[in-house]
Amino acid sequence: MIKQAIIPLAGLGTRLLPLTSIFAKELLPMNGKPGIQYILDECIEAGIKEVIFIISNKKKIIKKYFYNDSFFKKIIKKKKDKRLIEEYKKIKKYKKMIKFVYQNKPLGTGDAVYKTKSKIKNDFFLMLLPDDLIIKKNCSKAMISIHKKKKCSVMASMNVPRKTVNRWGIYMKEKNINKKNFYIKDVVEKPNVNDAPSNYAVIGRYILPKKIFYILKNQKKGKGGEIHITDAIRTLIQQNNKFIGHNFEGKYLDCGTMHGYIKSSLEIAKS
Ligand code: G1P
Repeated sequence: MIKQAIIPLAGLGTRLLPLTSIFAKELLPMNGKPGIQYILDECIEAGIKEVIFIISNKKKIIKKYFYNDSFFKKIIKKKKDKRLIEEYKKIKKYKKMIKFVYQNKPLGTGDAVYKTKSKIKNDFFLMLLPDDLIIKKNCSKAMISIHKKKKCSVMASMNVPRKTVNRWGIYMKEKNINKKNFYIKDVVEKPNVNDAPSNYAVIGRYILPKKIFYILKNQKKGKGGEIHITDAIRTLIQQNNKFIGHNFEGKYLDCGTMHGYIKSSLEIAKS
């Protein structure tokens, strides 16, 4: 059963400067709603009961957003604004399910995941990268349903233009299960165009096994001097753990770059 999700939120968001110089990118509004709430709603709809936020001291503003009760209570008492009461109810609902752990040095996604080690209860858990929004169809829900059938790890996949492969983790396929799903033979973090095993990219939704913590414990730095979750996954695949790539149906929105953020906001407004 997948009941816990983790969300790495300690990234500095330099690609969104100057918006992120004093603000967390995950709180930036997308059509009037902070990006992180789209991710939380995806989790709730997929049956997740607990979400672990990996933040840093520099990004405490994220915690504050969910813990500003006395402020809301004061205003609601004075104004009795219906809209605000509804929004505050939502925030309280999110707050109940969120736990926080800290990653104060930006050592990479693999290191961020490792910080949640003592909190994970079941054999598998979900990870969502907040830069990747997927709208119109719940990707996490679809992946959880595949996991239930196949009892193994599942990762989101999307076909990308060949010339952009060095921006993503890239899959090598083993064999197709059906049109939407395939077994993964290998995965490489941000390969050069000439070395890329395919143009199927890793998108930020992962169902990972708890045993990945044993690998992460000794995981060496990889590309760009960071500890990559992709490298730990690669080791697990080499050790014969099954991983499925899922070509999701929803629409992918990149919120991690300034161009992507602006485009994604417009796209959500239209939908
Ligand atoms: C991360 C992962 C990469 C994946 C991407 C999806 O990269 O390391 O494998 O393809 O997310 O968005 P980042 O965006 O942190 O550079």
